[in-house]
Amino acid sequence: NANRMWGGRFQMSPSEIMEDINVSIEFDKRMAFEDIAGSKAHAAMLAAQGIIGAEDAKAISEGLDRILGEIERGEFEYSRALEDVHMNIESRLKEMIGEPAGRLHTARSRNDQVATDFRLYIRACIDAFDVALRNLQHALATKAAAHAGTIMPGFTHLQPAQPVTFGHHLLAYVEMLARDRGRFADARKRLNECPLGAAALAGTSFPIDRHATAETLGFDRPTANSLDSVSDRDFALETLSAATICALHLSRFAEEIVIWSTPQFGFIKLSDRFTTGSSIMPQKRNPDAAELCRAKVGRIAAALQSLAMVMKGLPLAYSKDMQEDKEVTFDALDSFRLVVAAMAGMVEDMEPVPATMHAAAGAGYSTATDLADWLVRELNLPFRQAHHVTGAIVATAERRGVALENLTLDEMQAVENRITKAVFSVLSVENSVKSRSSYGGTAPQNVAKTAADWVARLETE
Ligand code: ARG
Repeated sequence: NANRMWGGRFQMSPSEIMEDINVSIEFDKRMAFEDIAGSKAHAAMLAAQGIIGAEDAKAISEGLDRILGEIERGEFEYSRALEDVHMNIESRLKEMIGEPAGRLHTARSRNDQVATDFRLYIRACIDAFDVALRNLQHALATKAAAHAGTIMPGFTHLQPAQPVTFGHHLLAYVEMLARDRGRFADARKRLNECPLGAAALAGTSFPIDRHATAETLGFDRPTANSLDSVSDRDFALETLSAATICALHLSRFAEEIVIWSTPQFGFIKLSDRFTTGSSIMPQKRNPDAAELCRAKVGRIAAALQSLAMVMKGLPLAYSKDMQEDKEVTFDALDSFRLVVAAMAGMVEDMEPVPATMHAAAGAGYSTATDLADWLVRELNLPFRQAHHVTGAIVATAERRGVALENLTLDEMQAVENRITKAVFSVLSVENSVKSRSSYGGTAPQNVAKTAADWVARLETE
């Protein structure tokens, strides 16, 4: 039998189809680094516990280091017959150092091995995401600080609603990303227990020290139940869930970038670095990066679904179904990393066009709420009545085809005769945003302070 790892009781080699459906080396080879780290920790522990000899452990460790070198230099030859990364590496170790290699798998199974590798791999991704998300937050907060007073329309239903500032809009995403980072950090906490030593499913009769391997590999503690250790992938589901939610946030921002960069809106200019041209229409400048960020959430959310469906109904403990955890997860994590990096690049480079934003902010009677609030404050009208009066004034302005502030006092008094010329002071977009100084509101002073706080906080991280 070609498979020297488990071929003892077999007379025939697997069918080609068996190999095709079973093989995972093409995708799990990216866990080679984690696999080697896990094996080194395991071998050192086995020696420290007197389960294998110190010489053998040394040979194993040195051999694994050499294999790592081969992998890094692209010299390692992966074999499909050896199924997965675990057996490829162990088999190469056997070629290199001979008999001691066979002692490495004492008190271990591929089941706890793969669970450990996968956790280590995802943990590294989470750590990288945290840095990348921090960088994106920093780019947003820095832009927000520069545009704390840059007025733009705020929308509901994508209809002009009330003026806000560009900085305020960007800071909304800084808040979302802070919660996203919290979700990843939370997932990491639960992920960070070490399954190594759970063996196939029941633990082992060898006097291993699971606390030692857990510590060597940077885990907080060993997992407590051997069956649970090898049979759950909730850590991957949680990470994919955090990635999905964050990617959803970013897809909304990507959509806004697409809209804002149209000539019709013209709120922002994207840089050449994050746009592409058309092969037929010379004038085009397409926001492809934003569109792809908007789209990638599809496969990230799908990976979460996919893994959930793989896990559904699996009896304890390990089943080969679980090998299907990796491709979708890796694809989703790769996509997510790209999305965050592309968003950060776009934000850093994007140039808002304040004049266009300002003009749009005043369109669509966006200070009508300010007028209604004035009627409440100055004339003591109940808000509902003020709303009604304002609606009638808006209708007048609409009939005349002018902005609210271009109506005459007479025209306003025709609707409500107690209105005075003081009302005009609240009809400008500047005064509108300035007045929104409630906690968390869009007043430029608020935004400037919050943006500065964020920048300072992110820079001490
Ligand atoms: N390649 C396998 C996986 O990804 C490793 C574990 C295999 N264990 C087993 N008993 N067949 O899940």
